[in-house]
Amino acid sequence: MSTKNKGISIVIAIVLAIILFASACGGGTPQPTVLGTKIPHSVGAGFENCIGCHTTGEQAMPADHAGRTNSVCQDCHKPA
Ligand code: HEC
Ligand code: HEC
Repeated sequence: MSTKNKGISIVIAIVLAIILFASACGGGTPQPTVLGTKIPHSVGAGFENCIGCHTTGEQAMPADHAGRTNSVCQDCHKPA
């Protein structure tokens, strides 16, 4: 094997290592980087409409939650 080919092999090995490393990190269920407060109540029957109870009052969602829908709440907020 010429010196030039050896160099290319090393480059390929490094690239493969990076790809393997990146896919190992990206595997599985994607997790949000910021986890919200635990949900202190049931998420079963009667609690499906999160926004219905969390728009006003003491348990209102923060302003940065504008536009979030019921289907995404539990991506960040898990039942306690
Ligand atoms: C029937 C009304 C109601 C519904 C529906 C509801 N919640 Fe709540 N939630 C409350 C109340 C009231 C509290 C205040 C704590 C308590 O007394 O359980 C609360 C507390 C929370 C908290 C903690 C807030 C804090 O200030 O510590 C989170 C997070 C939360 N709820 C998320 C959710 C999510 C996500 C859903 C949808 C799956 C949901 N809630 C549906 C009434 C509701
Ligand atoms: C991308 C992640 C994310 C999603 C999606 C999300 N939240 Fe949150 N939520 C947070 C974080 C982080 C906090 C605490 C920091 C803050 O004030 O923003 C929070 C705070 C809250 C609080 C106040 C809790 C406290 O301790 O004061 C309530 C209530 C709440 N969220 C309800 C909801 C509901 C209902 C939904 C769905 C409509 C929702 N969240 C969707 C991340 C999320």
